[in-house]
Amino acid sequence: MTNTLPPSSDLHAFRGSLLYFHQQPDANIPDHQHCLNYHADGLLLVENGKILACGDYSALKESLQPHTPLTQFHNKLIMPGFIDSHIHFPQTEMIASPAPDLLPWLENYTFPTEKRFADPIHAAEISEFFLDELLRNGTTTAMVYCTSHKEATDAFFEASHRRNLRMIAGKVLMDRNCPDYLQDTAESGAVDSEALIQRWHGTGRQLYALTPRFAPTSTPEQLGRCGELAKAYTDVYIQSHVAESQAEVKWAAELFPNSRSYLDIYDQYCLLRPKAVYGHCIWLDDTDRGRMRDTQSVAAHCPTSNLFLGSGLFDVAAAEKSHMRYALATDVGAGTSFSLLRTMDEAYKVARLQQYYLPALQLFYHCTAGAADALGLAGKIGTLAAGAEADFIVLDPNSTPLLARRSTAANSLEELLFALALLGDDRCIHATYAAGACVHQREE
Ligand code: GUN
Ligand code: ZN
Repeated sequence: MTNTLPPSSDLHAFRGSLLYFHQQPDANIPDHQHCLNYHADGLLLVENGKILACGDYSALKESLQPHTPLTQFHNKLIMPGFIDSHIHFPQTEMIASPAPDLLPWLENYTFPTEKRFADPIHAAEISEFFLDELLRNGTTTAMVYCTSHKEATDAFFEASHRRNLRMIAGKVLMDRNCPDYLQDTAESGAVDSEALIQRWHGTGRQLYALTPRFAPTSTPEQLGRCGELAKAYTDVYIQSHVAESQAEVKWAAELFPNSRSYLDIYDQYCLLRPKAVYGHCIWLDDTDRGRMRDTQSVAAHCPTSNLFLGSGLFDVAAAEKSHMRYALATDVGAGTSFSLLRTMDEAYKVARLQQYYLPALQLFYHCTAGAADALGLAGKIGTLAAGAEADFIVLDPNSTPLLARRSTAANSLEELLFALALLGDDRCIHATYAAGACVHQREE
């Protein structure tokens, strides 16, 4: 690293503790350096929305010109923005709506709520509120389900594009087993999805995800059309739900009697592949996990949702053992918080219930560099390494009296991150930056 940087009018410097991961932490290796970069007194240089340099303040300070704006974050931790691998923007207002199981929850709350998104003005208003809420919680990228309305999907992308956020989203495909007011057809769903891909995939920072809601609400014809689109557009994402609740698994088996398992339905329609993200993955067997690994598909682990609906416990140990990819996700509105810190807390406890131990380093990895890697965006987001998009957050370990006391007593980085994951929430997010611009600043 040279100490003289080219003159630039757009250079901005941020001083604070800096942390990012470069590979998955291995609990058996005590030295953190194998997986992360940590600079207790660091300097982050941002130019034109990208990270120019990241390192020790003492090493980089000479690169600052007298006129370079410098923002100092005393006693704060700067890290990459969180990545939420599965969330529903239209379900924002119905978060915390109780139901005994997934299927009655969908019927009684979700579908009637999603009906309102036929109105693009409503969709635009909720998009703005939803994005504010993500940023307030330090989430800079999310994989987002819209509704079956193409106009609502446009409204979401327009809001995200205007704010220059990196979002992945898609119109829900659903041509059976749902109310008429939400139903598309195999033909209209495919035509609308293709038009949306052409309009949004790669427009600014927007990326498109083909979004069959879940196998029970799509006919074989619709899944077939979706698989054809996936073949035609190899770099678009795919997102769906699989093996969430036992009643749902039974229903899927009745509707697709020729499939070996629920996951196998998607496999038969060529919907397992890199950049295909499946929510929940609770009731998988080892053959399914092997297919997830071999196809490089990704599981979105949604602990707050799974506990809320009583769906079951994601088996992290089995996921690790099978080497299948997974990332953490909120799954709002079945998930009970927009905060990935709250989600880490519950992921930790779900693992404990199964006698598995998830260190805090792993939890933070799975919400940053690990998620980026799983989504094929390694090096672009989820990192503070030079060349990455400057999506980062500023965490305040003193944001509540209790957290301040616990953080002060922390004897290691692992202990500090553990306290943030177990005790933290939106109050810890002091500021959020997207492409170098401040998009959230917490009021004191
Ligand atoms: N399965 C099908 N649709 C949904 C949904 O909206 N939320 C959850 N959690 N599971 C689903
Ligand atoms: Zn979901």
